[in-house]
Amino acid sequence: MHTPPSNPPARLAGIVPAVLAVAATLVLATPARAQEQQVNIICSVQAEWCNLIQTVYGKTTGVKVNMSLKGSGEALAQLIAERANPKTDIWFGGTGDPHLQAAEQGLSLEYKSATLPQLHEWAQAQAAQSGFKTVGIYSGPLGFGYNPELLAKKKLPVPKTWADLLDPRYKGEVQVANPASSGTAYTMIATLVQLMGEDKAFEYMKGLHKNIQTYTRSGTAPIKAVARGETSVSISFVHDGPGEKMQGFPVETVTPTEGTGAEIGSMSLIKGARNLDAAKKFYEWALTSAAQELGAAAKQFQVPSNKGAKVDANVPDFKKIKFIKYDYAKYGASAERRRLIGKWEKDVNSLPR
Ligand code: G6P
Repeated sequence: MHTPPSNPPARLAGIVPAVLAVAATLVLATPARAQEQQVNIICSVQAEWCNLIQTVYGKTTGVKVNMSLKGSGEALAQLIAERANPKTDIWFGGTGDPHLQAAEQGLSLEYKSATLPQLHEWAQAQAAQSGFKTVGIYSGPLGFGYNPELLAKKKLPVPKTWADLLDPRYKGEVQVANPASSGTAYTMIATLVQLMGEDKAFEYMKGLHKNIQTYTRSGTAPIKAVARGETSVSISFVHDGPGEKMQGFPVETVTPTEGTGAEIGSMSLIKGARNLDAAKKFYEWALTSAAQELGAAAKQFQVPSNKGAKVDANVPDFKKIKFIKYDYAKYGASAERRRLIGKWEKDVNSLPR
C-alpha cells in the first residue's frame, strides 16, 4: 500500500543538507571541477577525426565535448546565423577561406597562442593575416580521386590535367561538392580562377558542368562515391584518398599537372563563446603535436601545422606537386567568396547538364 510520507518538509530538511555535503565533497575532490566544464565545437573535418577528438579530449580532461559536424561553408553560415547568441565556442577544421571570412565579419575572437612559433610558417601566416582570429592547423592539396577499376571497365583514361576533365567521355563520371556548403569546392573555384584567370576559369567550369554527375553537399562525399564505385572521378583533397584505400576500396589520387591549390585547414575561437576558458584550453591542446597526430590516427592525412608532429607516410609529398601561389587573403575575403560563389550559382550551376 502506498503510504504518503509524513511531514515531507521535515524529512527533506534532514536529507538536503546531507546531499549537498556529499556533492560539495565530490566537487572539491574532482580536479579542476572538470566534470562541470563543457565545450561546444563545430567540427569540419571528417567524422572519424571529430569522434576521436571527442573521445580522447573528453577522457583525458573530463571536459564534456559537444560536437556538431558541419562542412566549412555550412559552419560559416551557422556562425553568421547565431551571431547575436553564439552557441558555438570553437570551430575546428575546415578550409581556411571561410575562417578568414569569419574573422573579417567579427565572428571570431583574437587570440595569440604561445604555441604559434612551433607552427609552420603557412599556419602562422594564416593567423597573422586574420589579425590572430584564426590559425592554421593542417594543410593539404586539391586534386582528383579516381577509381582505377571503374575507369578500366569503362575504358576511360586516368585524368592527369584539369583540361582532361572536359573530355566528353567523362560525361556523368565526375563528382565535386557544391561551393556554397563545401570549402573543398570553393578551393577549386579559387584555384581555377588563380590558375586560368577569371573568365577562362568560368568557361572551364561551364564545360566541366556537362560532365558532372552530381554536386554534393560535403567536400568528402565525391571521393567516397569514387571509392564505392558510384562515380569514376572526383575533385577532392588528395589527403582524403589513403583513408578510403585503407578500407579496401579501389581509389587512387593524382594532382593536375597544370598546377593546383592547397587548403590551410584552420581553427577559430568564437566571439561571445559561453565556455571561453574551456574553449581556450581546447584550442591550446589542438595546437600540440600529440593532438595533431590524431588526424593520421583517424586515417586523415593532411600535413599537421605543428612542426613537431609526426608526418605519416600517407601524407602527400608536397615537393612532388606543382602548386599555384594561392592568395589566401584575397580568396578568404567575404566579398570575394560571396561574389565567386554567386557567380558560380548563376553562370554554372543554373545551366542544364
Ligand atoms: C575533409 C578534408 C579536410 C577539409 C574538409 C572540408 O574533411 O579532409 O581537409 O578541410 O574536408 O570539408 P568541406 O565539406 O567544407 O569541403
